[in-house]
Amino acid sequence: MSTGKICCLVLLTLGVLAVVVALVVILTQPKCGPQHYLHGAVAADSETCSVIGRDILKSGGTAVDAAIAGLICTSVMNPQSSGLGGGVVFTIYNASTEPCNFVSYQQSSSATCITLLHRAHMAMHSSGAWYTSPLICDGQRLLEPGETFRWPALQQTLKAVAENGATAFYEGQIGQALVEDIRKAGSGISLEDLQAYKAEVSSALNITLNSHTTVFSPGPPMGGAVLMFILKILEEYKLHEASLATPKEKVETYHRIAEALKFGNMLKPHMSDPAFSDTQSHKGSITLSASALGEKPPSAMVPSILISKTGDMLVIGGAGGAWIISATAMVSEQEPHSNASH
Ligand SMILES: *[C@@H]1O[C@H](CO)[C@@H](O)[C@H](O)[C@H]1NC(C)=O
Ligand SMILES: *[C@@H]1O[C@H](CO)[C@@H](O)[C@H](O)[C@H]1NC(C)=O
Repeated sequence: MSTGKICCLVLLTLGVLAVVVALVVILTQPKCGPQHYLHGAVAADSETCSVIGRDILKSGGTAVDAAIAGLICTSVMNPQSSGLGGGVVFTIYNASTEPCNFVSYQQSSSATCITLLHRAHMAMHSSGAWYTSPLICDGQRLLEPGETFRWPALQQTLKAVAENGATAFYEGQIGQALVEDIRKAGSGISLEDLQAYKAEVSSALNITLNSHTTVFSPGPPMGGAVLMFILKILEEYKLHEASLATPKEKVETYHRIAEALKFGNMLKPHMSDPAFSDTQSHKGSITLSASALGEKPPSAMVPSILISKTGDMLVIGGAGGAWIISATAMVSEQEPHSNASH
């Protein structure tokens, strides 16, 4: 054989080998269809923040670390949704508590840390004293499309927290500046209140849907009970794909959903801090009276975890004020049925 032919044969063999190796690699890859991920996924409300959360997971962080990173990023990308001065509630599922039998005896708890500042923040909003979206206004001027918005105060705040940790927020200059700022809006919160703040941990509420999917959600003053009320009403209608098959069925199904959401949302005024059961109605503005200090304000935040008997899991939550519970209910409602068909 000539050198040319040998060369050709070698190249051909190499080519075939490469194709085989590629096929083996592709075929032995675990299949990850849409909504299925091998290790984990992070979906924040912007791609930038999702990527930051995912990178935290990849570098060995926990789901809670990734959630916090995503939240801090969101305070930059979507500052109207999230920020260091707001409240936060986590629903945490600890798989290592039941590593082998994580199907029916999951431990779930929600760590609630609504800061006092959340209350002050809401009071400032409801008094109308302070609310112009910094994203479209720079002082008195509207930003042009594509123009970069700079927020030096937020930059300094995040830098201080990155360098000095939580003490910068609760005790340091940021805490002092915050107390000073909200005092001007009528708050009685002191730096001592900030320093004494402790996150609370309590058990999540749970219900089981269709004897198949357990839903974990935070209890009052968060929206878990309202969400569960809606899901339990809808469970009775046994909605499935055929429920939307004909125009007549569609009308009936959407009517039922609308009614369930309506009756659920009517219960929202009852979401108050159980530790302050004789509280006044929360419909109006929130007052910062000394007697109510420490009471957690009602919130529609409803981070939820759905776990099916087959081990499928949906972790869901989101920003959106008055829309949160309805939106969460709609996504949760789809999940148990899609799982049941697997
Ligand atoms: C999960 O539970 C285990 C066992 O109780 C505990 O050691 C671990 O700290 C928990 N993890 C988290 C993130 O709470
Ligand atoms: C669900 O809630 C009940 C209390 O209503 C509690 O006894 C039970 O342990 C919870 N189940 C899970 C799986 O956490």
